[in-house]
Amino acid sequence: MTIIVTGGAGFIGSNFIFHMLEKHPDYRIVCIDKLTYAGNLSTLACVLDKNSKDYKPDWAERFRFVKLDICDREGVFKLFEEEKPDIVINFAAESHVDRSIEDPGVFLQTNIIGTSVLMDACRKYGVERYHQVSTDEVYGDLPLDRPDLFFTEDTPIHTSSPYSSSKAGADLLVMAYNRTYGLPVTISRCSNNYGPYHFPEKLIPLMIANCLNDKPLPVYGEGLNVRDWLYVEDHCRAIDLIVHKGRVGEVYNVGGHNEMRNIDIVKLICKELGKPESLITHVTDRKGHDMRYAIDPTKIHNELGWLPETKFADGIKKTIGWYLDNRSWWEEIISGEYQKYYDKMYGSRGTL
Ligand code: NAD
Ligand code: TYD
Repeated sequence: MTIIVTGGAGFIGSNFIFHMLEKHPDYRIVCIDKLTYAGNLSTLACVLDKNSKDYKPDWAERFRFVKLDICDREGVFKLFEEEKPDIVINFAAESHVDRSIEDPGVFLQTNIIGTSVLMDACRKYGVERYHQVSTDEVYGDLPLDRPDLFFTEDTPIHTSSPYSSSKAGADLLVMAYNRTYGLPVTISRCSNNYGPYHFPEKLIPLMIANCLNDKPLPVYGEGLNVRDWLYVEDHCRAIDLIVHKGRVGEVYNVGGHNEMRNIDIVKLICKELGKPESLITHVTDRKGHDMRYAIDPTKIHNELGWLPETKFADGIKKTIGWYLDNRSWWEEIISGEYQKYYDKMYGSRGTL
């Protein structure tokens, strides 16, 4: 069995590759990644770098890395010709809402055009399954005063940001390829993930890194927005189940009923790291900021028996522990181009 995983040098894709190499000792994984600012080869050291203390030879021999843009039709087709994959799982995306607000174009290119190129290659070479890793953000947001409401797979698509709109556009194309060409597709729509290798522009790793450097913790607005956090390994298990046992043409929501307000997460991180809450700085809110995401995971539970295994209280401790043990991974990132990004995004942001 050969599986192409796109975006595998990023946060969730890399965790998924490790999950698959561990759980399926007879599978080969071919990772395609353009290595944008968010892709990092050091994340894949355990399968690429013989000198790394984490190197796993039995994984490495079943792993291939190809630097490739999913929008590069010729390159993608050539790789499919060589590898004849059984399954293709698309994690590759521009994934950060704030960047999409600054510059939507690349989101449309990678998230929509890239998805169509991959599916065209799947049509030409034939695959058992094309799986699209999507997001709960395609459903828009829920009001804070209606805790009884959750996103189900039937909730209408109703996006807020260029990021979520580009992901929704891709989802619509995926369903269209299923109906028009009979491509065997599935889609997962997951809530916010956290865990190892999370790029430090996103809430949880940004706050951990800033706390450890005694820097201000920039909370957008009042910090009352709610996200439904899931430990990344639980998401990886869900995708593994869906590609093997999920029904073709179906969407599966993935989330663990773990709603938290941003401000409470930041306070928790301060507490865990023994840092004062006075580091918290309320800054100008994100444009179009979604208030609340909350997933109803009944379908994946009933059909595939999936349930989250990691409680937030344990997952956040594990995650903080990982950032403490792997300082060089994120310190290298925040010392480079990231600094320019940070100054641009936060330097001019007013405080409240
Ligand atoms: P990430 O930004 O950490 O990683 C994205 C990876 O894709 C990077 O390695 C990057 O180099 C690669 N990439 C970007 N453009 C590419 C291109 N044109 N060709 C090839 N590779 C390219 O993202 P993530 O958080 O790991 O998210 C992975 C997927 O999961 C995305 O599709 C995202 O929409 C979805 N998702 C994320 C979350 C979350 O909480 N992070 C939640 C639900 C769904
Ligand atoms: P983020 O990690 O960017 O994920 P998403 O926007 O896709 O849910 O942000 C999570 C929440 O944290 C979101 O409500 C925005 C907020 N946030 C801050 O308050 N400060 C920050 O510096 C960042 C990056 C996010």
